[in-house]
Amino acid sequence: MTVDLVVRNCTVVTPAGRTPDAGVAVEDGTIVAVGRSDRLPDADRVVDADGNVLVPGIVDGHIHNREPGLEYKEDWESATRAAAAGGVTTVVGMPNTDPVIDRPEHLELKFERGEASAHVDFQSYAVVTSENIAQIPAIDEAGALGFKIFLGSTVGDVPPPNDGEILEAMERIGETGKRLGFHEENGEIIDHYTEQFQAEGRNEPIDHSHSRPVIAEQEAVERMLTFAEETDAKIHMFHVSSGSAAEAVARGKARGIDVTAETCPHYLWFTEEVMREKGNVARVQPPIRDADEQDRLWDALEDGAIDSIATDHAPHTPDEKKVDDPFGNTWDAISGFVGLETEVPAMLSFVDQGRFSLEEWVHHHSTRPAQVWGMYPQKGSLQVGTDADFTIVDPDAEWTLADRERLHSKNCVTPFEGESFTGKAVTTVVRGAVVYEDGDVVGESGYGTRVDVDNS
Ligand code: DOR
Ligand code: ZN
Repeated sequence: MTVDLVVRNCTVVTPAGRTPDAGVAVEDGTIVAVGRSDRLPDADRVVDADGNVLVPGIVDGHIHNREPGLEYKEDWESATRAAAAGGVTTVVGMPNTDPVIDRPEHLELKFERGEASAHVDFQSYAVVTSENIAQIPAIDEAGALGFKIFLGSTVGDVPPPNDGEILEAMERIGETGKRLGFHEENGEIIDHYTEQFQAEGRNEPIDHSHSRPVIAEQEAVERMLTFAEETDAKIHMFHVSSGSAAEAVARGKARGIDVTAETCPHYLWFTEEVMREKGNVARVQPPIRDADEQDRLWDALEDGAIDSIATDHAPHTPDEKKVDDPFGNTWDAISGFVGLETEVPAMLSFVDQGRFSLEEWVHHHSTRPAQVWGMYPQKGSLQVGTDADFTIVDPDAEWTLADRERLHSKNCVTPFEGESFTGKAVTTVVRGAVVYEDGDVVGESGYGTRVDVDNS
């Protein structure tokens, strides 16, 4: 038998363990064998992985691809080019685009644009507002991966529904079998302190952080847990930034609530001191927290309260980020920064530091996000018969992101500029096609396709 592709001479790692001197065989975009290199079939193309590590493709369940409408920041092509270069094989786009993804036609437009230009596979969330609760079944039918509610004001200013509307939305989403995720910050607390700080003339980057205190995040988590317990909805906490919020998630899990949570590399890598070192470049919502909150966030990741890792990849122009004056008036700067090309290196650096094993990394960064969003085992596994998505990494490569312009996004501002890593993605394979190798994105724009899900 001759198959389309064999990757050989690697250590294959899944959450279940590792197999040295192994590889994977692919036919028609699907995995047909995983095993010892010398037992794999002949292939039209053989990739020698040079002793590196092969894992199921990384799944990033939280990116802002900005298309439709905000293409001056990023679009599907550039976001998924960055994904390919970062070792990410599936991305899920956020709905705070223009128009916002709040009805079937907008979702279909977003999918069409993705089909036309994406390099890796993709999906999208739809937003729930006061205006579209009745449309939840139609949005589900149109194929959204899940739903999102912005509880506090953030980029895009999508207004939050009131608590009654949130309860009703949970009931309706429960009927679809899909999961509802939150931007979990209490808007009233944030608005209060933002106004107070501005009136007092406090305008340093760290003041932005302190205007969005941990209690705003923790309270939002606890309120949504209460609602989910009442409605039996499946819920998710996006971008958990603090140990306090993660501990609230753990208490919800202990109560039997179907709650999942993610955190992002920047909350694990930096403490709030980064606001004094890098200024508004590191401004993000929710903000980066102090060392105690970060230590407890790490504990929550180790204890299973945090399920997945995602970037919150949020490109903005250098002008919007105020990079020429990073310590200028924080209220003039915008929140968010790119992350698709530094998430695998950051996580591998944590592996190198002994913070977790390769197996645990794969669990949090591939298998678990695929499970949370109903894409498993098609994504997030190396099971025979599933999509041949893999990320090959060199866990020992030492490098520094000296110049953000080597990244592939349209706008590349990131606090990871200047940081040093141990580990990087070297080859990215999506459904059997090599989309990134030898430092170049080699896949075709438009190859990536929407991940079909059946969560019912
Ligand atoms: O910092 C952020 N940026 N937080 C968000 O919630 C949204 C994101 C964006 O869209 O730029
Ligand atoms: Zn986000």
